[in-house]
Amino acid sequence: ARAWRGVVEEYRDRLPVNANTPVVTLMEGGTPLVPANRVSELTGCEVFLKVEGLNPTGSFKDRGMTMAITKAAEEGAKAVICASTGNTSASAAAYAVRAGMTCAVLVPQGKIAMGKLAQALVHGAKLLQVEGNFDDCLELAQKLSVDYPVALVNSVNPYRLQGQKTASFEVVDALGDAPDVHCVPVGNAGNITAYWMGYKEYAADSVSTGRPRMFGFQASGAAPIVGGEPVQEPRTIATAIRIGNPASWSHAEAARDESGGRIDSVTDRQILSTYRMLAAEEGVFVELASAASVAGLVQAVERGHIERGSRVVCTVTGNGLKDPDWALAGASAATTVPVDAQAAATALGLA
Ligand code: F0G
Repeated sequence: ARAWRGVVEEYRDRLPVNANTPVVTLMEGGTPLVPANRVSELTGCEVFLKVEGLNPTGSFKDRGMTMAITKAAEEGAKAVICASTGNTSASAAAYAVRAGMTCAVLVPQGKIAMGKLAQALVHGAKLLQVEGNFDDCLELAQKLSVDYPVALVNSVNPYRLQGQKTASFEVVDALGDAPDVHCVPVGNAGNITAYWMGYKEYAADSVSTGRPRMFGFQASGAAPIVGGEPVQEPRTIATAIRIGNPASWSHAEAARDESGGRIDSVTDRQILSTYRMLAAEEGVFVELASAASVAGLVQAVERGHIERGSRVVCTVTGNGLKDPDWALAGASAATTVPVDAQAAATALGLA
């Protein structure tokens, strides 16, 4: 066995790099594909979780960021910029440190999780809280990258999706073939686009025999693709996917249509209860937005869109520690005891 080298080295011949490319990495990728026993029981499917919260900065964004920052370094960039609901900015900030670049991030004011804010700050990013939503932030970031010497590292940067497609390779490498169905949360729609790209590439080269049907899930208050028009004021407790006008909209529709899948919505209530179930019954602590993939799977099976017996991978995109408020909100306060075994045993119901 040898150590995991990060997605660029592991999949070098499938990525736009050459021998002289200065690879910027935190050894991202190589995340576990965990059998989800409870979700399998609930759905009658064989379900696996691709646990992307175990990447270096706690989300799938690191796969794309290693590529985007690597290419920015190759092109001589000194500064990068992104708009973000929190995870992209955390990742960009960390990889910019590795590359010796400055990093500017634009986030919607008051609408990103505390842990993500902390990450951008501790990695030394120049952070602006914008009085608008993510869509406004992305428009601003795009403008600034045109008018000033700063490279845009949002997923409209094609290198991001190249890096992110490696998650599909890992799924096929782990299962020995493509699953029947792949479920992902959808926000700006980069990830569903990247997964489909990866699956198509492996199938075209006969690494896999099949390709999965792609299922994407938006939050019902922020579901522009489902509704067929941009949402001016997206609303959801899952702030990571609080997006009203996704940049990769048409690519997401193509992934859906080419694969015979669906893009649907799930309510905040479904997201929250699935988030709690994953933590309490699978032992996997994800952030709210990540639970949309599993909530969506359960709903799609109930509605007959996914057959029982299917082999399904759900990507859980981010780590629950990014946003512990929601975990604490549902929990009862811990009991305080003196340093006394009898008292502790009584309080624990052991005595
Ligand atoms: N899950 C999490 C935890 C995310 O942070 C995001 C996107 C998504 C799902 C949706 O992925 O945008 O590729 O469809 N977060 C972006 C950000 C927007 O700024 O961190 P997508």
